[in-house]
Amino acid sequence: MPEERRKVTLRTLFSKMHEGLPITMLTCYDYPTAYFMERARIDVLLVGDSLGMTVLGYDSTLPVTMDIMIAHAQAVRRGSPSAWLIGDMPYMSYQPSVETAIRNAGRFMAEASCDAIKLEGGAGVADRVAGVANMGIPVMGHLGLTPQSASALGGFRVQGRSAAQARKIVDDAKALEDAGVFSILLEMVPDRVCELITERSSVPIIGLGSGPHAHGQLLIFHDMFGLYPKFTPRMARVYGDAGQIILDGIKQYVEDVTAQDFPQRENWFTMRDEAFEELKVLLE
Ligand code: KIV
Repeated sequence: MPEERRKVTLRTLFSKMHEGLPITMLTCYDYPTAYFMERARIDVLLVGDSLGMTVLGYDSTLPVTMDIMIAHAQAVRRGSPSAWLIGDMPYMSYQPSVETAIRNAGRFMAEASCDAIKLEGGAGVADRVAGVANMGIPVMGHLGLTPQSASALGGFRVQGRSAAQARKIVDDAKALEDAGVFSILLEMVPDRVCELITERSSVPIIGLGSGPHAHGQLLIFHDMFGLYPKFTPRMARVYGDAGQIILDGIKQYVEDVTAQDFPQRENWFTMRDEAFEELKVLLE
């Protein structure tokens, strides 16, 4: 069993921010990975709708539903009882109305024991953020590259390189803060824009591909371990090639079964002679 630790709370996150200690955050989608993340004492886990791409193999996050998200969030919570767990609101689970947003945010809390939810967008979703936050559900904002709007943003690319675009992101961050977010994720914005927003923010800023100045860092788990076959984004650091280990193991298994080298005696179960004799009589 992992060594127990105290539950990560909002207090923990704000203390780290005020003490200048970086907040650690990863995406997580299943029980065994969550178990290891708990052992590694990660602060924050995001059950991201990126699972549509990393786990389910879609080309975008758009097909992901609330029911899919809830099942994965439940598994992650079972593996990691003490991380601060954020459920990512999938496409159209909050866009239609404030009420839709509150209902779906509530599902993450009630059905998957999440601590918070995340949703994408700036001033345009400030009323959803306020609606959910006012119901006592902590909300993380998400600016910069927001994958649910990839089509409108011109693809999965850096956002905020021009002064005008950067100004919009800075303004959006302020709008989210005013609406009551507990934290903001900045995905793929230039380091200087991230620094500027971090300096002005009263809530923790978490960066993904946005440089070193944020209060914390997020990576997508599959990018860290060679588990997303289509590509590894530049913003990721690769910590190991689990994909290669898995591929080698599967190839070896295919070879072993074909060569009748598997299973061996220690891999199967047998029954006592008397029971087997009795079975044969029963079958006569
Ligand atoms: O779904 C997700 O994992 C995310 C990250 C890309 C930030 O939203």
